[in-house]
Amino acid sequence: MQPRRLRQPIVVVLGHVDAGKTSLLDRIRGTAVQVREAGGITQHIGASFIPADTLRAICGPLLTQFRFDVTVPGLLFIDTPGHEAFSNLRIRGGSAADIAVLVVDATKGLEPQSHESLEILRSRKVPFLIALNKVDLLSGWTPHPGSPLLESIKSQPKVIVDRLDEAIYRVVGQLSQIGFRSEAFYRVRDFTKEVAIVPVSARTGEGVPELLAILVGLAQQFMRRRLEVAEGPGRGIVIEVKEEPGLGYTANAILIDGELRVGDEVALGTRSGAKVTRIRALLMPKPLDEMRDPRDRFTPVESVSAAAGVKILAPGLEDVVPGTPMYVVAPGRAEELMNAISSEV
Ligand code: GTP
Ligand code: NA
Ligand code: MG
Repeated sequence: MQPRRLRQPIVVVLGHVDAGKTSLLDRIRGTAVQVREAGGITQHIGASFIPADTLRAICGPLLTQFRFDVTVPGLLFIDTPGHEAFSNLRIRGGSAADIAVLVVDATKGLEPQSHESLEILRSRKVPFLIALNKVDLLSGWTPHPGSPLLESIKSQPKVIVDRLDEAIYRVVGQLSQIGFRSEAFYRVRDFTKEVAIVPVSARTGEGVPELLAILVGLAQQFMRRRLEVAEGPGRGIVIEVKEEPGLGYTANAILIDGELRVGDEVALGTRSGAKVTRIRALLMPKPLDEMRDPRDRFTPVESVSAAAGVKILAPGLEDVVPGTPMYVVAPGRAEELMNAISSEV
């Protein structure tokens, strides 16, 4: 029997305000653009897709070392805000996640919204790893831009390696107090029992190859079932409602399962309860290069398949609640789906 097609894992990035979530994604995107000849990245609404070829190019020799190839089609990253006001988006982001990256500032350790994020991940049983960011700020650190962390560590003096260990063990201690076992990724023996801590710098790119390689490795080893493409009606979440010049109100959504087509009816939550509307258009952003031309930022598509970030045009989106689940309405199921949404929003 043919193995079933795997969809790209949805990787949600969580963490306290200013831990460096967006910077880390910018760095990953920037690195991906540098190796564009290998496939670059495709743009998604509210998400960044890093294709398999690009992951291979960035992770390079690590794949040989860890002995695996990239068999998922890529990784779809979703950024979330760290500000305390955006708890709802973190929860929704957390529920969309196949796997998560909790970004922690190495100079600060766990902070209030790191704890909040950890509770979301625990309650939704989302596997995650820690990106221990800003290692370049450890005093005396000599940066090796873009290099794997283990390469960089080899050339740091012992006192700096000790400083890194202190930052790691502070987080190990804080996590153990709330019931998580964790270790630096190069000391993890069993990735199903210990949370891997990957020291990184969004500023220098150090550790990014390992971060991506471990995400791919974990997804491929432990989530095949979940990633097998589910046929059938689409299911997703709305992450943002946005008024666009000339388009009116639009919903930026992440499609988690199935397919979404122009003309589909979707059920979603609004401030006055669940409602059903019909998709008038689906829009994808232009590639990074072309995004600079504001007249022509989107490309209409007829359909999208999970996992994907997409902009939805439909009547009546102005009062949609960001964070609402969204379901394509199969015949006869409108009421059931509306009830499900009312209980969740
Ligand atoms: P919110 O979205 O507001 O929750 O913040 P964030 O987690 O996305 O953090 P952001 O990427 O906005 O970074 C916050 C600040 O930290 C910025 O000034 C970044 O330049 C800085 N920063 C992020 N990563 C690093 C890093 O690896 N090293 C250093 N030195 N600074 C960093
Ligand atoms: Na910030
Ligand atoms: Mg941010």
